[in-house]
Amino acid sequence: MTVRDILKMGDPRLLRLAQPITEFDTDAIHLLVADMFDTMHAVNGAGLAAPQIGVDLQLVIFGTDAPNPRYPDAPLVPRTVLLNPVITPIGDAEEDGWEGCLSVPGLRGLVPRWAKIRYTGFDPYGDPIDRTVDGFHARVVQHECDHLIGKLYPMRVRDFTQFGFTEVLFPGLDADADD
Ligand code: NI
Repeated sequence: MTVRDILKMGDPRLLRLAQPITEFDTDAIHLLVADMFDTMHAVNGAGLAAPQIGVDLQLVIFGTDAPNPRYPDAPLVPRTVLLNPVITPIGDAEEDGWEGCLSVPGLRGLVPRWAKIRYTGFDPYGDPIDRTVDGFHARVVQHECDHLIGKLYPMRVRDFTQFGFTEVLFPGLDADADD
């Protein structure tokens, strides 16, 4: 298990369309997942997508079984490993919410997302996942899955008056919790 380097915005590997996983329950997949959790926990991330550590596969992790110091007021999202995800919006309602990204350190932006979604995919063993969620859970899934189609959250920001440095926007926030 290893903490891996996180690619930063500007690296072209963050802009690729990630490849679907064709073989589940392999040593390579389990090692990748372990490295991703080590990496995410090392930086208090809310989620991480494989492309952020340079791996061109449709795999994201998110959630935790304990509150995240970066999002202390957010409801708990269950610890999830999601392969080959597909997101379907339910209804056309959107919600604005503040986001940061480990690949865009030090910044936050107000991002519109679908308020309610269904997401499907597989766990690392190939068992299906099928959930309907809203609120912060829905936001995290949309943010992470965007990484699989080469989208970083600044590309979703519509109002650039609501985009800036975390320390300026949220002076009370934990200074150690870099995005
Ligand atoms: Ni991100």
